[in-house]
Amino acid sequence: MGKYEDVFRTSTEAPENFWLTAAEGIDWDVAPQRALDASGAPFYRWFPDGRLNVCFNALDRHVDAGRGEQPALVHDSPVTGTRRTYTYTQLRDEVAAFAGGLARLGVEQGDRVVIYMPMVPEAAIAMLACARIGAVHSVVFGGFAPHELALRIDDAAPKVVVSASCGIEGKRVIAYKPLLDRAIELAVHKPEKSVILQRPQERAELGADDVDWADLVTAAPPADCVPVPANAPLYILYTSGTTGKPKGVVRDSGGYAVALHWSMGAVYDVGPGETMFTGSDVGWVVGHSYIVYAPLLVGATTILYEGKPVGTPDAGQFWRVAAEYRVKTMFTAPTAFRAIRKEDPKGLLAADHDLSGLRHLFLAGERLDPETYHWASALLDIPVIDHWWQTETGWPIVANPVGIEAAPVKPGSPTRPLPGWDVRVLDPSGDPVPPGVDGAIVVKLPLPPGALPTLWNDDERYVASYLSAFDGYYLTGDSGHIDDDGYVFVMGRTDDVINVAGHRLSTGSMEEALASHPDVAECAVIGVADALKGQVPRGFVVLKAGISREATEVEAELVQLVRDRIGAVASLKSVAVVAALPKTRSGKILRKTMRGIADGLDEPIPSTVDDASVIEALRPVLRRTGRTV
Ligand code: COA
Ligand code: AMP
Repeated sequence: MGKYEDVFRTSTEAPENFWLTAAEGIDWDVAPQRALDASGAPFYRWFPDGRLNVCFNALDRHVDAGRGEQPALVHDSPVTGTRRTYTYTQLRDEVAAFAGGLARLGVEQGDRVVIYMPMVPEAAIAMLACARIGAVHSVVFGGFAPHELALRIDDAAPKVVVSASCGIEGKRVIAYKPLLDRAIELAVHKPEKSVILQRPQERAELGADDVDWADLVTAAPPADCVPVPANAPLYILYTSGTTGKPKGVVRDSGGYAVALHWSMGAVYDVGPGETMFTGSDVGWVVGHSYIVYAPLLVGATTILYEGKPVGTPDAGQFWRVAAEYRVKTMFTAPTAFRAIRKEDPKGLLAADHDLSGLRHLFLAGERLDPETYHWASALLDIPVIDHWWQTETGWPIVANPVGIEAAPVKPGSPTRPLPGWDVRVLDPSGDPVPPGVDGAIVVKLPLPPGALPTLWNDDERYVASYLSAFDGYYLTGDSGHIDDDGYVFVMGRTDDVINVAGHRLSTGSMEEALASHPDVAECAVIGVADALKGQVPRGFVVLKAGISREATEVEAELVQLVRDRIGAVASLKSVAVVAALPKTRSGKILRKTMRGIADGLDEPIPSTVDDASVIEALRPVLRRTGRTV
C-alpha cells in the first residue's frame, strides 16, 4: 500500500489524532486538547479549547526563530515597473504599524474591516494587521463595481474600510476612490472611516471621513498580537451563490491555520525558505490561502504579482517571475495558461528563463482541459497538478499530494480526495452511484479543519444552501463521478454559478441586473463554453409589450448595465433581445437546454417543455457565437 493510502487511512480511522498532530505545526497560546466539538452538529467546531494568533504564526514566530532577514513577501509589479521585497522582520513591523493604526481608529477584536484594494503589498499587510488584533477582514475583489461592494459592506457592517487611490488594470489606471465613495453612498451601513493608500499613478482627494494610510501608520504605536479562540472568525469572504446576494463564507482561525500549514508540505511541497508564486488575486480564496496565509505560515517566500499573465507587457512574465525568484511551486488558473498559450503557442518565451528551480505547477479554479494540461506538461516538463476546491473549503478537497506521494495523473481528473475529505457521489434520491456514473459530488460531515463553519450571520442559509439536500452531507454544487481507482472527475456546477476566467460569478445576479432595466419583461443568463475563459455569460431578454426600440440599442444598454452593477469582471458582452424564452409547463426557464444548444451539444428537448417552437426559434440565436454588443 502506498503512502497516500496510509495517510488517508489514518485521517479517516483516527481523524482527531490526525488533526491534533497536524495542529503541532502551529504555535498556540493555549494548545488544543480536543480536535473536534460535534455537540452542535451540523455546526462543527475544530480545536474548541485552543487559542492562538494567526498573524503571530505567519510572521512573528519566524522572526523569533531567526528567519527575520529572509524574504517573506515580494511585490512584483510590471504594471508600475516596481519591485519590493519585504523580509519577515520588515513585514512584521509594517503589519504591526498598520494594526496600531487600525486600533487607533477604534477597531477592536471581532470588528469587521472591508479591504477593497488592488494587488499591492498593503492589501496583505491590511489582512495580517486585522488578524494581529483579532479583527475580521473581508476582502472584496477590486473588479467588483460599487453595487457589489455595497452589498458586502451592508452584510459585514465594517467599522473601517481600507482602499487605495487607484489600481492598474493592464494599461488602464482605475480610480478606486470614486468607486468606494459610490459604494458607501449606496450602502445602508456607513463605515466610520476609510483608510486610503495613496498611489503615485493617481492620487485621491480625501474627505472628512478618510484617513491617509501613510499618516495613520505614523500616528499610533505598533500593535501586539492578540490571542483569540481558535473558533474566532479570521475573515469573511463573499462568494457567488445562486441569487444576487453573495454568501459570506466564514473562516475560523485555528482550523484554517492548521489545515493551510499542513497543506503546504503535504500538497504543495513548499517548506521554510522556499518560494511559492500564486498568480491570482487577494480578492479570491486562492489569494487568501496561497498568496497570503499558507506560504507565510510555513516560513516560505510568497510572490504578490500585480499584472496579468499576458499583455503586461508580454506572455513571458510568469516565466520571468519564476526564474527571478527561484520559484519552486507555481499556482494559477488554467485560463491564465490558455491566455499564455494563445499569445505564445510554442512557449518560446519560456526558453529565455532559467526554470530549473520550478518543480510543480498547480492549477485550480475551473476544470483543467486536457489540451492545456498537455501543453503545460510538455513545455515545463514538470508535474502539472489539477486540484479541486472552493471558496467554502479554503484549501483543496481533491489533489495529487506531491508532498506525500505523487500518483499517476489521469488528465481530466484532479486525482484523489485529500485526507479529511470523505467525498461521495450521490443520485438525486441520495443513494451512492456506482463508479464512473455521474451524480452530485458531496462530502460527508464533518468537514475537515479550514472549511467554512457557517455563513456570516446566517446559519439558516448555511444549512439551506449546503446541508439540506442530503442529510449528513455537504453539497459542493459540482457534479461528476469517481472512477474505479478512486479518481474524482469534476464535470461542472449544478447551480447558477459560472466560472469566467477563473472568477466565480452568479448568473442569478446578472439576471437581477438585466431585470432591473425598465424595458425588460423577463430574462435568462447562461454560461457558455469559451476557449479562453472556460465559460462566458450570455444574456437573453424579452422586452415588455409595446416597447418598439431598436434591439441593438437596448442590448448595448444591458451590457453596460451589468458592467456598472456587477463590474467589468462579469464579462457579459453578449445580450440578445428574443421573442420568447423556452419554458416548462410550470413556467421554469429551460436554461440547461439553452446552454446545451449554445455549446453545440446534441441537447434533448425535455418532455416538460411548454412550447417546443420557442426553442426552435431560439436555436439559431443560441448557436450564433461571438455576437458581442
Ligand atoms: N479591477 C478592475 N477591473 C478588472 C479587474 C480588477 N481587479 N480584474 C479584471 N478586470 C476587468 C478587466 O480589465 C476586463 O475589462 P474589459 O472588459 O474592459 O477588458 C474585465 O474585467 C474582464 O476581466 P478578465 O475576465 O480577467 O479578462 P482579461 O481579458 O482582462 O484577462 C485573463 C483574461 C485570462 C488573462 C485573466 O482573467 C487572468 O489572468 N486570469 C487568471 C485567473 C485568476 O486569477 N483566477 C483567480 C482564481 S485562481
Ligand atoms: P471558487 O469558489 O471561486 O474557488 O470556485 C469554486 C468552483 O470552481 C468549484 O465549485 C468548481 O465548480 C470550480 N473548480 C475549482 N477548481 C476546479 C477544478 N480543479 N476542476 C473543476 N472545477 C473546478
